[in-house]
Amino acid sequence: MSISFDFSGRTALVTGGAQGIGRAIAAMFHDAGAHVAVLDRSSEALADAWPASARVATHAIDVTDTAAVGEVVRAVEAWTGRIDIAVNNAGITRDRVVWKLGDEEWQDVLDVHLGGTFAVTRAVVPVMRAAGYGRIINVTSYTGLHGTIGQSNYAAAKGGIIAFTKTVAKETARFGITVNAISPNAATPMVTSLPVERIDEMTEMVPVGRFAEPEEMATAIGYLAAEQSSYVTGVVLPVDGGLAM
Ligand SMILES: NC(=O)c1ccc[n+]([C@@H]2O[C@H](COP(=O)([O-])OP(=O)(O)OC[C@H]3O[C@@H](n4cnc5c(N)ncnc54)[C@H](O)[C@@H]3O)[C@@H](O)[C@H]2O)c1
Repeated sequence: MSISFDFSGRTALVTGGAQGIGRAIAAMFHDAGAHVAVLDRSSEALADAWPASARVATHAIDVTDTAAVGEVVRAVEAWTGRIDIAVNNAGITRDRVVWKLGDEEWQDVLDVHLGGTFAVTRAVVPVMRAAGYGRIINVTSYTGLHGTIGQSNYAAAKGGIIAFTKTVAKETARFGITVNAISPNAATPMVTSLPVERIDEMTEMVPVGRFAEPEEMATAIGYLAAEQSSYVTGVVLPVDGGLAM
């Protein structure tokens, strides 16, 4: 079961693309003919996930390093002369109830999700503005919409991403740029590393009755990244089997 997209001639940048949802998103763009810049923390993980290909450039980078993000974005633009699509997907969790949450656990989660999304967006918007075209897609969460016990840091970051998405959508709409978000629910290492009882509890909450495959997230990203989706901006699309209803 798959939808065919055509992103030939496009350049897409995907953060957190060494595994999970990010890897499926980057693979979808690659299969659809795009040049894909895949950013993630470790060069080993990137090398394992991405065999050499003329249309893939991997960049080992921590998205919290805002200056390095700027340099990578310039390198990606120099590589193909364009950046049409940016997907801010890199993420971590450091779960603890708020009264036990340390400063570092709070800050690290905000820095990766919100800081990383900001850094990439700030760097790609001028490239997209100059081209008069762009698609930015951020990754939020059920927790950013409704809250989850033990995730106040993650909720603040993901809720912030929703407000950021809508604001940048308004700021850039006149330049042919759309900015949207998805709220996923997929079986990735972030989820499968949880205790089995927690996974069962979470599955119970999903009306469709299962976690998605990461590829099902990529399908929604393909829709939002398509040229034909030019009238869709500032939207948070839950791709979560009905969880957020
Ligand atoms: N899996 C789900 O059900 C689910 C639900 C809601 C939201 N999300 C969000 O989807 C996104 C992808 O999650 P996933 O489930 O694929 O997780 P994952 O842990 O499988 O993958 C996350 C990727 O991000 C990378 N990453 C983390 N910190 C980074 C940093 N500082 N710099 C660069 N790369 C970094 C990791 O190395 C990893 O490759 C995240 O933003 C997550 O919060 C996932």
